Amino acid sequence: MQIQKIAVLTSGGDAPGMNAAIRAVVRTGLEKGWETFGIRYGYTGLLNGNIIPLGMRDVGGIIQRGGTMLGSSRCPEMRNEEGKQKALQALKDNKIDALVVIGGNGSQTGAYSLSQLGFPVVGIASTIDNDLCGSDITIGTDTALNIALEAIDRLKTTASSHKRGFLLEVMGRNCGYLALMAGIAGGAEAIVIPEAELDPETIAEQIHSSYERGKAHALIVVAEGAKNNAESLIAYFKEHGKRLGFDLRLTKLGHVQRGGSPGAFDRILATRLGAGAVEYLSQGQHGVLVGWINGNISATPLSEIANKTKSIDMELFKLAQILSL
Ligand code: F6P
Repeated sequence: MQIQKIAVLTSGGDAPGMNAAIRAVVRTGLEKGWETFGIRYGYTGLLNGNIIPLGMRDVGGIIQRGGTMLGSSRCPEMRNEEGKQKALQALKDNKIDALVVIGGNGSQTGAYSLSQLGFPVVGIASTIDNDLCGSDITIGTDTALNIALEAIDRLKTTASSHKRGFLLEVMGRNCGYLALMAGIAGGAEAIVIPEAELDPETIAEQIHSSYERGKAHALIVVAEGAKNNAESLIAYFKEHGKRLGFDLRLTKLGHVQRGGSPGAFDRILATRLGAGAVEYLSQGQHGVLVGWINGNISATPLSEIANKTKSIDMELFKLAQILSL
């Protein structure tokens, strides 16, 4: 198939670096002699035919900007047959020959649906959660991790001044990657992740033993997806009158982690994956997710990505426990 027109969309939770990926797709696409289009607000925009031309200058000055210049959305309609058919029709009506989907799990499952319907789609791995199979690291993860780390470093100084403990809740949906890595990099006293649920008693003991050993602070990094999330842990300690030593405070980072300027790593990763997606399409390869595996740009069939989540390295969790002493 000869490509003449491609479209790009960003979908699901935005991630720092998405703009760099859009820019790379558009500019390398134009270099191939294709016409390039952007779809506003993810699959929702596709269903509504919200498609705009994107030229060389339209993607200027965006590489350093967080969020996504195209806008994003979560689109439940893409889960049902009617929605998928509507999306396919919108692509056909606009004479789009191939689609690039920048996003995480739900978005790539949508991409897989379109690919199953016979439409040429290439995905680009992008989510701060880093829970997508087919990429060792996804666009936005590194920036989000550094934001969580900065929060830990800042909390530690105030915690030490007052001999306090802090529970820091970080994003990640059902995946503990961000919490684990932030906890290791920030030297947390305890890490609570869905993949290794600790019971509140064990966490209370860990906090108390840090206090007994003379630490001036205790930092507990909690993944939002953990059964024992930060709020429920505080409630448990209160209700059971746990002796912790430290007075506890709670900080929820929330969407702060997704906002702001992407770091160098994410700008470069996004640029390379964006260019990679165009290259795969030009070689006639589609129905794949473009990701970063073992230091290389790689294509993994969307069938191996859709409806799956990547597991984390539990050896690192064990290491974190040893180091927290
Ligand atoms: O998938 C990215 C993510 O930020 C998750 O970490 C979080 O659970 C979710 O999105 C929040 O979604 P929303 O922005 O729709 O509230």
